[in-house]
Amino acid sequence: MQVPLLDLKAQYATIENEVLATVSDVLKSQRCIGGPKVAELEEKIAAISDCQYAVGVSSGTDAILNSLMSLDIGTGDEVITSPFTFFATVGCIVRTGARPVFADIDPKTYNINPDLIEQAVTERTKAIMPVHLFGQMADMDAIMQIAEKHDLAVIEDAAQSITSTYKGRKAGSIGTVGCFSFFPSKNLGAAGDGGMIVTNDEGLYNRLRIMRNHGANPKYYHKFVGGNFRLDPIQAAVLLVKLPHLDAWSEARRRNAAFYNEKFAGTLVQTPYISPECVSIYNQYVIRVPRRDELAAHLKENGIGCEIYYPHPMHLQECFHPLGYQQGDLPEAEKAAQEVLALPVYPELTREMQNHVVETILGFLSSPR
Ligand SMILES: Cc1ncc(COP(=O)(O)O)c(C=O)c1O
Repeated sequence: MQVPLLDLKAQYATIENEVLATVSDVLKSQRCIGGPKVAELEEKIAAISDCQYAVGVSSGTDAILNSLMSLDIGTGDEVITSPFTFFATVGCIVRTGARPVFADIDPKTYNINPDLIEQAVTERTKAIMPVHLFGQMADMDAIMQIAEKHDLAVIEDAAQSITSTYKGRKAGSIGTVGCFSFFPSKNLGAAGDGGMIVTNDEGLYNRLRIMRNHGANPKYYHKFVGGNFRLDPIQAAVLLVKLPHLDAWSEARRRNAAFYNEKFAGTLVQTPYISPECVSIYNQYVIRVPRRDELAAHLKENGIGCEIYYPHPMHLQECFHPLGYQQGDLPEAEKAAQEVLALPVYPELTREMQNHVVETILGFLSSPR
């Protein structure tokens, strides 16, 4: 039996006719930049995120970059973030000229440990960028308290956590801005790249919109040096077809996660910890296991998709060597990188497929070395 890590074809089969019709409508209209589909998606994403404003952008990466630029963060500034994340979080900070400062993670949730943030604050700190990893939000009350005390912006990297909640509050709605990604593997994935920024700050919203279009306002008169961060209307149209299914898809992921949790209880497999304050959308179902690399190879040999998110923490990346971090500086992130493994959890997964994953893992772990 083959069990891929993600099966986008299975999902597409359920919405193909609607997607083809809406893409055809956009093409016939020849509104190839901006237009009503982008505006409608912005309105709907703002609403489901309990935010007043949303700005569609070209990717989750550009959502972060635009947010940093619109908050006027650049050379000489510092942004505190997690070392255990996808590259874009940190890459964008460096691209603005600012310096990323890492606070280690909570080993249970893999999110930034708020107890380690305040000691990283200096007079150059401008923002905190928590990453809501794998579908679960970071401890936002503690983060907001530090941000308010030191007058810092909070950029929520919610690329993996759209509609996820913390104490009933939606991802993206607590900080200064929230950044979403519509990369195809996300719970709400486009047919290519796309992203969105949400905020409740009207002034910032206006800057984000202008920045998205080379900082021009009006056309050909440039207030800031922005970029082409625009969301493609074909992607917006596809996302509008998918959006009504998002909650059911995330619920199916939660059911699949609960099934694994039950099957792995009392075994060597450490299942994901979800804080009682959070509802996860399980963009990834990430276990910790002994002999992780051997297990990953064994699963692949048996036709089961799995992935290590993330094998090499940000502070140890070659391109960030100039920041001066060493092995051992952020031990929890480094340990997680050695032990984590993401398993298939996508909504269309069957119980039969899940049982096969569970049996293969438990069989491997009970075998002699
Ligand atoms: C945590 C995190 N931040 C940022 C990004 C960047 O998003 P994108 O791939 O849409 O540029 C991603 C997704 O890939 C992500 O997982």
